[in-house]
Amino acid sequence: MVKIAPSILSADFAVLGEEIAKVEPVADLLHVDVMDGHFVPNLTIGPVVVEAMRRRTHLPLDVHLMIQHPERYLAAFAKAGAAYLTVHAEVCPHLHRTLQQIRELGVKPGVALNPSTSLHAVEQVLDQVDLVLLLSVNPGFGGQAFIPLVRKKIEGMRQWLERVHPRPELEVDGGIKLDNCRDVAEAGASILVAGSAIFGNADPRAAVNEFREALNSPAGRGAGGTGGGLPPGEPQSRIR
Ligand code: DX5
Ligand code: ZN
Repeated sequence: MVKIAPSILSADFAVLGEEIAKVEPVADLLHVDVMDGHFVPNLTIGPVVVEAMRRRTHLPLDVHLMIQHPERYLAAFAKAGAAYLTVHAEVCPHLHRTLQQIRELGVKPGVALNPSTSLHAVEQVLDQVDLVLLLSVNPGFGGQAFIPLVRKKIEGMRQWLERVHPRPELEVDGGIKLDNCRDVAEAGASILVAGSAIFGNADPRAAVNEFREALNSPAGRGAGGTGGGLPPGEPQSRIR
C-alpha cells in the first residue's frame, strides 16, 4: 500500500499542533521540510520545532534536510526525534559516511535528489539507505507543479530498488495532487508527499482520505497523469 506523508510546509505554523491533529489518524508519516536559505532559497525550521512535533504526534517524522553541511546537524535532529533523516546527494561529497552517521544515530537514513540530478548520484549507496527521495519540483517552496521528466526517474529507480534487500522506500515529493497521485504510484513510488494538496484544503483529513480513494480505486479516480507520457524504460545501468 502506498503511504501518504503530509508535508507541514503548507500547514498553519501558528497552530501546528492542531494541524498535525487533523491528519494524525489518517496519515502514515509527517514530512518535515528543513531549509537553510543556502541550498534552497527559503528558510524554515530546525530541531526545536521537530522536538515539539515529536511531543504532539505518534506519526514517524520524515525529516527532509534541504541544507548544506547536513552532517553538522544530524545529531540534533536525531535527538529531536526524527524517524527518517534524508540528506541531498548534491551537498554530500562523502555521502556514504554521512549515511553511516545517520544509521549510527539510530535513525533511518534517506538520500534525496533534485529533479536535474541523475539517479547515478546514489547508485552506489542504495544498500545503505532506507529511503530514496526523488524531488518532483525544484525544492524550496510548496505549491509548485510536478516536473514531468521525473516520472521516468521514478520508473528507473523502482527498477533499481527491486534488486536491493531490504528494499528502501521510494518517496516522491513535490506537486503531488489528486489528479496525478495514481500515476506517480504506478511509476513506482511507495511514499507520496503532499503539502498544499492536503494543508491547503479546508479539511486536511478529508484530503488524505481522498488521496487514498484515488490510489485504491480500480479506475484511479481523477487520474490525469503527470504529463510525462514516457513509456517505462530500462535504467541505464543496474546495481550489481
Ligand atoms: C519542496 C518540499 C516539499 C513541499 C511539497 O521544497 O520539499 O515537501 O512541501 O509541497 P507541495 O505538495 O505543495 O508541492
Ligand atoms: Zn520535502
